[in-house]
Amino acid sequence: MPEEAALSQFIDFLRFGSVSTDSKYKDQVLGCADWLRQKLIAIGLKAAVHETPGHPIIVAHGPKREGRPTVLIYGHYDVQPVDPLTLWHRPPFNPGIENGIITARGASDNKGQIFAHILGIEQTLKETGDLPVNLILLVEGEEEIGSPNLAAFLSSHREELACDVVAISDSSMIAPGHPTFTYGLRGLTAVEVTATGPDHDLHSGIFGGAVENPATVLARLIAGLHDKNLKVKLEGFYDDVRPLALWERKAWKHLPLTENVLLKMTGSPALRGEKGFTALERIWARPTAEVNGIGGGYQGEGTKTVLPSKAMAKFTFRLVPDQDPKKISEIVQDYFRKNAPPSVKLDIVAGHSGEPYLVDPNAGFGMAAQKALGRIFPGQKPALIREGGSIPIVADFKTILKADTLLLGFALPDCNAHSPNETFPLAHLDLGAKLNRYLLEEIAAA
Ligand code: BES
Ligand code: ZN
Repeated sequence: MPEEAALSQFIDFLRFGSVSTDSKYKDQVLGCADWLRQKLIAIGLKAAVHETPGHPIIVAHGPKREGRPTVLIYGHYDVQPVDPLTLWHRPPFNPGIENGIITARGASDNKGQIFAHILGIEQTLKETGDLPVNLILLVEGEEEIGSPNLAAFLSSHREELACDVVAISDSSMIAPGHPTFTYGLRGLTAVEVTATGPDHDLHSGIFGGAVENPATVLARLIAGLHDKNLKVKLEGFYDDVRPLALWERKAWKHLPLTENVLLKMTGSPALRGEKGFTALERIWARPTAEVNGIGGGYQGEGTKTVLPSKAMAKFTFRLVPDQDPKKISEIVQDYFRKNAPPSVKLDIVAGHSGEPYLVDPNAGFGMAAQKALGRIFPGQKPALIREGGSIPIVADFKTILKADTLLLGFALPDCNAHSPNETFPLAHLDLGAKLNRYLLEEIAAA
């Protein structure tokens, strides 16, 4: 268990409602950034808050010495929105602890994980007055909205941020107590579609039958995204999909994250997805088309005989190597444009995008990462996995800073990231602090 001071600081960190997507929370985002800066200075790093057109970025540096590798640790202090608020068992920004588990928005994604790294750095600095490597800590406030300002920041601070490798803890362990090394992430591209029929809501008895219903049109378009085997039907969608390697398909069959575990975790009546692939293969290595939100017409109690003027849906398409988010966004937009009847007007807004990521888990500093995990869980070989989530900036670390990324997450798969009642085991603060220490040691020794 973490020390009392560390725990109370973690609670302070979680109290900031740093929701990046909603401007109502702007002050909390700023407050959180400044809190972090102060914490990083207090543990002995040189830290500064950098303004951006969006939310600020914090950069901190450890002691620099010639001849040793530079490691950039990245994380984010922004969080996802809290709704639906009524499903939370407690206020999302008023953390509570039960049985060693803390509940709050951002507990796992990503405040708990980045805070554990900070604790690790603090402990090593306290004990030795130094770190085994040159360390850069980069904590941003816009990861949950696609990091719109971070790539430009990397370019304009290329020299300050130059590093040999990036390490990120913003993903999950395959199961409690099971060391996990992630070597792939999906990318994504977001699109929002609004269908407008009549220029105001109409009486569905007086006009229904003569005038197109935009909700029906949108439903038809959504249904057209998949075939009966749940493959995405858009032309060219799979053209650049890199097939799974045989070793991956074999290894993933033996992981403790089984279909039964997934089923329980989701509370769904049954799992379902693209034919010909296991659930893990579908999540980690196959692209998908998801409706994230859908609306239009009367949503209140009882019935209302209305023919709505508008209907809208928000989509994200998760992508795998070597799909190009821009190309897929065009394929998607073309599909909606070509298939909408002339009786509705379509407004299509392309949202943020992020590229997929895949590296050889045994190359570069991959073995150092695996050794560090092995020291935390003696006698266990780390599971080598991909993840279905996205961290868009990882691809930019490669293209702009020329550095590979080690993904060493220690959230649990059932932590309710992005859902009500997000949790993080307090013991994982210690686990993450240890991981930080071992990882820096192993990279220095590599
Ligand atoms: N921590 C997640 C990404 C993640 C989740 C990686 C699970 C591996 C496993 C990150 O904070 C996140 O949620 N990213 C967004 C990115 C998007 C908003 C651009 C995502 O994946 O939806
Ligand atoms: Zn997230």
